[in-house]
Amino acid sequence: MHASTKTATSWTLDQVPFADVDSAQVRAQEDLFYLIAAASFVEIAADLYTDNLIRYFDGDDEIGAWLESAWRPEEVRHGHVLRDYLCHVWPEFDWQQAYSAFYADYSKLCTVEQFEASRSLEMVARCMVETGTATFYQALAALATEPVLAGIATRIRADEIGHYKYFYRFFLVYNAKEAPGRLRILGAIKRRMLEARNDDAKCALWHAFIVREAAPNKSKFNLLRAQLGQKVRRHYPLPMATKMLLKPLDLPDSVAHLLHGPMARLAARLML
Ligand SMILES: [Fe+2]
Ligand SMILES: [Fe+2]
Repeated sequence: MHASTKTATSWTLDQVPFADVDSAQVRAQEDLFYLIAAASFVEIAADLYTDNLIRYFDGDDEIGAWLESAWRPEEVRHGHVLRDYLCHVWPEFDWQQAYSAFYADYSKLCTVEQFEASRSLEMVARCMVETGTATFYQALAALATEPVLAGIATRIRADEIGHYKYFYRFFLVYNAKEAPGRLRILGAIKRRMLEARNDDAKCALWHAFIVREAAPNKSKFNLLRAQLGQKVRRHYPLPMATKMLLKPLDLPDSVAHLLHGPMARLAARLML
């Protein structure tokens, strides 16, 4: 069944019907536990990242206001909803303990993170991150057999696409001013996909794993990551990812078509 047909009711992320969750059904799926936990950590930690981003776009009041009044609360809400779902289904998991340890590590990664050299390229990087989240939640919605979880994933996906559109609109504004050219834009896309951000998901997963597992070790962890990657890949919307990744390059259709294969392979790196 497609995710949208599983979630016909009209609740929002502020009023998730947790009482309707069939916990026993979800508890059997350990993979979901890890995907939800890792996503909840990274989403809530966006709070820290927002301050850096607002500072980077200092003087652009429209972006600053949107980041503060829409982006930050929406990302944090995603994290809180996922946390609440996780704690509802797996009440024995000490979410706060795992999150605190994750945050201690993540805040170090976050301060060393380099922004792109110009605002237009930073907007490209933001579009890439939103592509990663939008496609991840689409995969999660397809993976979830429990309707409330599928509904949460579908609603978060819609927010992430909204973020992408917003950042893309600002990319166009700065692209017109700075005209970085396609090669530099492609460089920003590659950097974002091949470097830094994958570490966030890995770090989040690690902290969920060491609190969850009775006897955690590196080889079990690597096995878990490989399993999760396989699972998500089976439902990963590659055409959607490729389309979103290529959009800032504004290529003629014939050239964009040639890039679909390599971009799809790169897109797979946006996942866990
Ligand atoms: Fe989010
Ligand atoms: Fe987002």
